[in-house]
Amino acid sequence: MNLVLLGPPGSGKGTQAKRLQERLGIVQLSTGEMLRAEVAAGSEIGRTADTLMKAGHLVPDSIIIDIMDKRLDQADCAPGFILDGFPRTVPQATALEVMLDAKKLKLDVVVSIEVDDEAMIARISGRYSCAKCGAGYHDLFQLPKVSGVCDTCGGVEFVRRKDDNAETVRERLKAYHAQTKPIIAFYDERGLVKRVDGMGPIDEVTEKVQSVIDKQAMS
Ligand code: AP5
Repeated sequence: MNLVLLGPPGSGKGTQAKRLQERLGIVQLSTGEMLRAEVAAGSEIGRTADTLMKAGHLVPDSIIIDIMDKRLDQADCAPGFILDGFPRTVPQATALEVMLDAKKLKLDVVVSIEVDDEAMIARISGRYSCAKCGAGYHDLFQLPKVSGVCDTCGGVEFVRRKDDNAETVRERLKAYHAQTKPIIAFYDERGLVKRVDGMGPIDEVTEKVQSVIDKQAMS
């Protein structure tokens, strides 16, 4: 199963992608995480991306397309993959189509997680993650079982993303509406989009996404 999780910042793409990765046994490919790793490594790509990400702007298509083209050739993608945060512009969606054709692959479904702008801001402003393993949490909606201890690895240090401040979030939402939302129409034309209401609790959204994927797998 090759799928795309689409949605605005804070819609829950990353949260759902991690759950699907475990449930389906296929790899999550998050361009945001790849770029944050480049920033942490201090690479040339990381230096370019850092300034743009801090401002809430998108990283140039050419950089992202090249990263994803190479990543999709790795062996762990062979059983299938979950694209989280890519594609994010019409040129990226077009490049993905060309890339998959060349690799003799295709997308099975594009799941669009739909949430209100206000909910996104509340979700992003409460988000934090384990500094050791990256497991994601939220001040209100997803607390660790034992306060201050990561459920996954037992880590006790947590971090917040540099781009999760009110000003940057507003810019990220603008970028979403101007550059990313049009790809829903791009995939609608290809009959690939399934819409999921992302406003319920995390577990409820997971079941809705799973149900869409199950139906797709049976069709
Ligand atoms: P990226 O890391 O992809 O960020 P994003 O798209 O802004 O998405 P987020 O990670 O903020 O949100 P999410 O939808 O994954 O939500 P999450 O599950 O964490 O990209 C960062 C930057 O990198 C971009 O701004 C851009 O600069 C650059 N970039 C990345 N890809 C690019 C590309 N392809 N092209 C160009 N530039 C690119 O959930 C958020 C919080 O809410 C969590 O705390 C979670 O616990 C909570 N939560 C989740 N679901 C629910 C729910 N149902 N109810 C209550 N709380 C919930």
